[in-house]
Amino acid sequence: MAIETIIFPDAEQAAQQVAKKIQQLIQRKPDAVLGLATGGTPLLLYRELIRMHAEEGLSFAQVRTFNLDEYEGLPPDHPESYWSFMQRNLFDHIDISPGNYHLPSGMLAADAVPEHCEAYENAIRAAGGIDFQILGIGRNGHIGFNEPGSTISSRTRRVTLCEVTRSDAAPAFGSIEQVPTHAISMGCATILEAKEIVLLAFGEHKAEIVAQAVCGDVSENVTASYLQTHQNIHFYLDSAAARDLRESM
Ligand code: F6R
Repeated sequence: MAIETIIFPDAEQAAQQVAKKIQQLIQRKPDAVLGLATGGTPLLLYRELIRMHAEEGLSFAQVRTFNLDEYEGLPPDHPESYWSFMQRNLFDHIDISPGNYHLPSGMLAADAVPEHCEAYENAIRAAGGIDFQILGIGRNGHIGFNEPGSTISSRTRRVTLCEVTRSDAAPAFGSIEQVPTHAISMGCATILEAKEIVLLAFGEHKAEIVAQAVCGDVSENVTASYLQTHQNIHFYLDSAAARDLRESM
């Protein structure tokens, strides 16, 4: 088992520790490259980074960021686009420069998508690679939007979203019909190239899949299990998300 799990009494304390790691990284390397996630899980982390910026002078002026994914068909100003999620929950409240953050575009014509995905990969490479990648985990074990069946060598590409992923997103959109069916996502290989990876998981609803990712076979059925092959991977969990882990270890 290669994944180090660190279990906290609650999500807030886990998020604070991850924020501290990011703070130390930025102090060491002011132009650090961060891989960012959206969804409910990183919200407490982003709140803590915003606090560190406001109260402790943590500057993101030179930091570069690359988000994992973006829905297809949502313009950036759509309230559920990951572009607007990032503005609302992080970028609007820190001193990051607009040229320094990147998200895939979900608004391209089909024939422009492959070139866009390749350019995204090249931009990550040109930045020197991702120093610190933040991940959440889907209930089906996805990282980014690498749904079951995605290969370990997958790269940034157009993906089809699973039913479970779309139904988890349905409350935010009002109904499952309004949730996009496709997205652009970094691939598993893209993620695995990050120098350090922290996956956050909070709540009992993540317990079963966390245990599978950590203790199960490395398999395309649970793409988070690919993280077992990484040399510098940590799972930051609250005790609810770690429930099944304790039983299986
Ligand atoms: C988000 C992403 C997804 C989420 C995962 C968990 O950019 O790529 O993998 O991290 O679906 O979502 P939440 O945090 O909402 O439970």
